[in-house]
Amino acid sequence: MSAYLRALAALESWSLEGDQVEPEFLEAYGEAAKSLRCGTTAPRIRILDIGAGGGGDLRYIRRALDAAELSLTMVEVVAVEPNQCAWPHLAQEQKRWLSDVADFRLLPDMSKLCSEADGFDLAVLQHVLCCAQQPRDLLEEVRAALKPGGQLVFVEHVLADRAKMPFLLAAQVAFRPVQLALCCDPCRDSERLFESQVFEEVKLKRFSLPVLGVPIPHIKGVALKSEADLTKTWRGPLTVEEFL
Ligand SMILES: C[S@@+](CC[C@H](N)C(=O)[O-])C[C@H]1O[C@@H](n2cnc3c(N)ncnc32)[C@H](O)[C@@H]1O
Repeated sequence: MSAYLRALAALESWSLEGDQVEPEFLEAYGEAAKSLRCGTTAPRIRILDIGAGGGGDLRYIRRALDAAELSLTMVEVVAVEPNQCAWPHLAQEQKRWLSDVADFRLLPDMSKLCSEADGFDLAVLQHVLCCAQQPRDLLEEVRAALKPGGQLVFVEHVLADRAKMPFLLAAQVAFRPVQLALCCDPCRDSERLFESQVFEEVKLKRFSLPVLGVPIPHIKGVALKSEADLTKTWRGPLTVEEFL
């Protein structure tokens, strides 16, 4: 099993050499950066990178922080990655892109976040909903981990449109077993998941990304947790003295 996990980790990190960034992804992170810049008055900015893999998201996080003119020294990053064979790759990418952050921690799963006192300002999901066993549950966990007013930036590949891309859809269905063996479901309808109102506000855009010459349908955007959310600050009923 660990040979399998090592192979998955190696596969995820094979394209990380160099400084290349995908402009479509960068645009989504840039959108999140705009609100980070205007919304942050706190001394620390807390970022949660979910399904961090071999560290492919870190260069985008760095770019978003640079775009928002935020110093790395005021940033804390928590990366959640269940495949611990990917952790050495992740640590290497952290040295490249986020070496000056105030704190960088690795966790094996989201449940370890329960002990975190504060919520996160920004969460990142990049090509993770296709891998997660319970994608809706994961989205709910991400929302719960955010501060009120916090935002999630996401980039995911999605199921092809039946009417517009029937052949691509057929290919996704045909190759699904192969991709499932690599822990990735090409037939996830993640766009619908964002319509299911886990988040109060979602800005979502579809785009195609050529992979080996084939335009693979993707979604990207920013999902916002309402400022008025009280689920994390609820502290039980008032005492009679407080009520009066
Ligand atoms: C395709 S990789 C993407 C890695 C990275 N985000 C990137 O774009 O380079 C998806 C990663 O999500 C992780 N993953 C799967 N289910 C997860 C879950 N429930 N919580 C956190 N991470 C998960 C996998 O272990 C895998 O490393």
